[in-house]
Amino acid sequence: TGMITYDPGFVNTGCCQSDVTYIDGEKGILRYRGYDINDLAEKCEFVDVAYLLVHGKLPSREQHDEFSTNMNYHSLLHEDMRHFFDAYPDHAHPMATLSAMAVSLSTFYPELEDATLQENIDYKVTRLLSKMRTAAAFAYKKSIGHPIVYPRPDLKYCENFINMMFRTPVNSYEVDPVVAKALNKLLILHADHEQNCSASVVKMVGSAGANLYASISAGICALWGPLHGGANQHVIEMLERIITEDKGDVKRVVARAKDKNDPFRLMGVGHRVYKSYDPRAKVAKTMCKDVLEALGVSDPLVDLAQELEDAVLADDYFVERNLYPNIDFYTGLTYRAMGIPTDMFTVMFAIGRIPGWIAQWLEMREDPHGRIGRPRQIYTGHTQRPVE
Ligand code: CMC
Repeated sequence: TGMITYDPGFVNTGCCQSDVTYIDGEKGILRYRGYDINDLAEKCEFVDVAYLLVHGKLPSREQHDEFSTNMNYHSLLHEDMRHFFDAYPDHAHPMATLSAMAVSLSTFYPELEDATLQENIDYKVTRLLSKMRTAAAFAYKKSIGHPIVYPRPDLKYCENFINMMFRTPVNSYEVDPVVAKALNKLLILHADHEQNCSASVVKMVGSAGANLYASISAGICALWGPLHGGANQHVIEMLERIITEDKGDVKRVVARAKDKNDPFRLMGVGHRVYKSYDPRAKVAKTMCKDVLEALGVSDPLVDLAQELEDAVLADDYFVERNLYPNIDFYTGLTYRAMGIPTDMFTVMFAIGRIPGWIAQWLEMREDPHGRIGRPRQIYTGHTQRPVE
């Protein structure tokens, strides 16, 4: 009843109360549960941040160990799920596979009678965090025709993933600590971002009473979109095209992005909430340069990205609209240096975002004001007309 507020894209609509993540878009501040993103990225492992988001506090030593042990215990995919990968074509986008694997978990682990029992929630949380990482690595191995590598209980969360990605029966791959540290940091940067598109999707699906695996599966699909997490893949593809098609001419690309008759947008630039430099992009940029140096990788795309950023920051169009590089602008360059293929970038984002989705889904389920998500509309179609 009453007037319906018309708010396309939910620019001004607060849909919940939350104590998970705080953003100040003007000042460029991001905090998870009150901790600054810079502090967390510098001092924590990803699993600790996952624990923080889901449980509200950083784990003690014992809690960390218990969480890690549970994660190892739940790291295997059911052997029947292994065969799912064979059914997809080699060129399957791994985001589609990942989403399918997430919802498939609900077929193997159906809702228990007491779905609200803490122990049962803990199982789901650990399974998602741990098994999705295994599924992502399996999807990659399948895409290159290599045998899958099983998770190893002696390796930590990030090391384990990297080993599953890069070990083969004929190499003696050892995880580089530089790569493991970088992955921890990147996943922390991805871990939550309050009411973004995918988190809203996860909660919308969950608000209907659907289970956590199904809700996360939907969130993965939303994240895949190029305006959202898919941007990290599209940034690299855009930079590659600037070299091959535009002969390195950054001005031409910037002019296209400004042209209102051209649908092209600069990928990795702009944000709904940040009207200043994305604090995650700051960390990502610094670490990109550090990681490439430590790995001894030189990539012409890094200089090109810097050139493009300089052009954006100096251009009135972007200045007037407060458009700055976002998290996706520099993270892809680091993933690339770590050996992660371009179409897996958004999968990395998804693995990082799982704790945030879970934390918000749980918060929504416990919210005493929680109701099914059901926006209204302004109807603009025909009034009544007869069939003739
Ligand atoms: N290139 C050129 N113009 C842009 C861009 C861009 N990347 N982003 C925004 N604008 C312009 C837009 O055309 C509009 O201009 P005008 O006022 O003249 O119509 C103005 O800036 C405001 O843009 P908007 O589309 O109303 O802003 P939004 O809050 O609805 O969209 C966004 C935010 C992130 C979808 C958008 O900035 C965008 O498309 N960026 C490129 C894709 C991208 O990098 N996405 C990743 C976002 S951060 C991580 C994540 O979510 O996963």
